[in-house]
Formats: sequence, C-alpha cells, structure tokens
Amino acid sequence: MYQILDGRKVSSEIKEEIRQRVAEIVAKGGRRPHLAAVLVGHDGGSETYVASKVKACEEVGFASSLISFDENITEEQLLQEVDRLNNNPDIDGYIVQLPLPKHIDEQKVMERIDFRKDVDGFHPINVGRTSIGLPSFLSATPQGILELLNRYHIDTNGMHAVVIGRSNIVGKPIATLLMRKAQPGNCTVTVCHSATKNMKEICQSADLIVAALGKPEFLKEDMVKEGAVVIDVGTTRVPDSTRKSGYKLTGDVDFDRVAPKCSYITPVPGGVGPMTIVSLMMNTIKAYTWSYSKEK
Ligand code: GUN
Repeated sequence: MYQILDGRKVSSEIKEEIRQRVAEIVAKGGRRPHLAAVLVGHDGGSETYVASKVKACEEVGFASSLISFDENITEEQLLQEVDRLNNNPDIDGYIVQLPLPKHIDEQKVMERIDFRKDVDGFHPINVGRTSIGLPSFLSATPQGILELLNRYHIDTNGMHAVVIGRSNIVGKPIATLLMRKAQPGNCTVTVCHSATKNMKEICQSADLIVAALGKPEFLKEDMVKEGAVVIDVGTTRVPDSTRKSGYKLTGDVDFDRVAPKCSYITPVPGGVGPMTIVSLMMNTIKAYTWSYSKEK
C-alpha cells in the first residue's frame, strides 16, 4: 500500500514552526520579517500563486507587500522597482513572479535582484553557490521536495533518481541537490528531457522519479518500478466544465494507475505545491537572520 506525501499537512506544520519563531522575534521587540512580491500583468496562474504567497505570509506573521504593475510597464521601470526593493532596508526578501510579459528580459530582471534578497534562489550567484554546496537560497520547489522527503524520513542514499525535465526552476536544481553528498541526496541522478530516447527504460530503473515536465499525466504505470517514490511537480490547468473554476489542476503523473505501484507518491494538488510556498517562507526567515544579508 502506498503512502501519500501530504504537502498540505507538512507545510502547515512548518508554517506553525515559522509562526512561533516570528512570535518569539516580535516578543523580543524585533521587526517582523518582510516578503514582497512583484506581479506584472494579469496571468491567471501568477495571480493565484502570488495571492497564496501573500496569504501564507500573513498566516506566519510576516509583513508582506504585493506590488502590482500593468503589463505595459517598461523593462526600465521594472528594473527601477527592483533597485528600490534592493535598497529598501525594510524588505528582507522579494520575488518577481514569472512569467513576465514578452517585451521584458526575465534574465536581466533576475540578475538585477540583490542575491541576498533573492528568496526565489533564481539569481546566478545563488544557483552557482547551490551547485558547489555553499550557503545559498535554494529555489523554492526543489527545496520543498527535499523538505518533504526529509519529513517523511525517506532515505535516498544510493537511490537512482530520475528527473524528467531540465528547467532552470525545477529540473536542473533538483538534479543538483539530489546528487549532493547530503541527506536527502546522495543519489545517482539521470536527467531526462524531450530528446531522451529510452525514457521508459530509464524510468523503470528509478527508485525515485521527479516528474517536472509540465505534460498532464505523462508518467504512466508501465514506466514505474514497484516500490518507487514518485514526486509530481506538474500543475497544468486542464479545462473541466464540471468545476466552478472551469479547470482541474493536473499533475505530470497518471496518479490513479501509478500510485498502487509506489511506496510514496505526492498528490496534485496538495503535494509539492504547498511545499513550494512554505519554502519561500523558510527562505524569508533565512534572509532575515542571515548575517551576510546585513553586511551591506
Ligand atoms: N512562476 C512559477 N513558479 C515561480 C516561482 O517559484 N517563482 C517565481 N518568481 N515565479 C514563478
């Protein structure tokens, strides 16, 4: 019988831990940690994510700021806002929600963020520090996955981990982290992507699969070994007229057929998603307490 990796439950436990830490800080007369989120335009998914992040901040007692711009904002105006946030001592960390409108160079914006406030862990300095094992901000989704494995005491030592997808936000960093000499980690990692020829055979030999390619129900039961751990990062909105929202959040794993073969599996929704948000909270606390964030 498989066990569900319950991201909702674990994330509320972590939120409670953070809430207590914030309460202690405030009780000693300290300032509340402050997370800001920059949202450009009206992408439905982005608006929902940012709203969840702001709500989570309130739950743990952080200060939060939502800075919204019309999609016609110029790149220069957005970069000026990034500079303001970098220079504002009341903001410990912030994110610029992606995707940005096409006329704005996302990479340029990411690189303008002060890496000491980069709680998304997207700045090349944080990516580089992570890859050589220096203290850094880990990007939120990979960190959430590690935390979930950790809290369920899943021993990944020596596992063959297969990551499907090579995005900068999930595939690459989770592959790096699972390869580290650490727990969770110490895996032999294979990264599969759109040009991989023998995907099925590779997945069949996996002890741990991270599906992060963004194709609904891509991972089928014949690709999964008996007893494997399966982490589903997919969150595609598939139209569903029976729902009030008009869509169903669908993962990259054919859950109903894959789950019976697994030892552990994450559901969608309620698996990796809530862990991603809580990772951002963990990074904000880190930004607040890290001494190097104050050495400016
Ligand atoms: N868009 C999708 N996921 C993310 C994320 O984790 N951070 C930001 N900033 N944008 C995103």
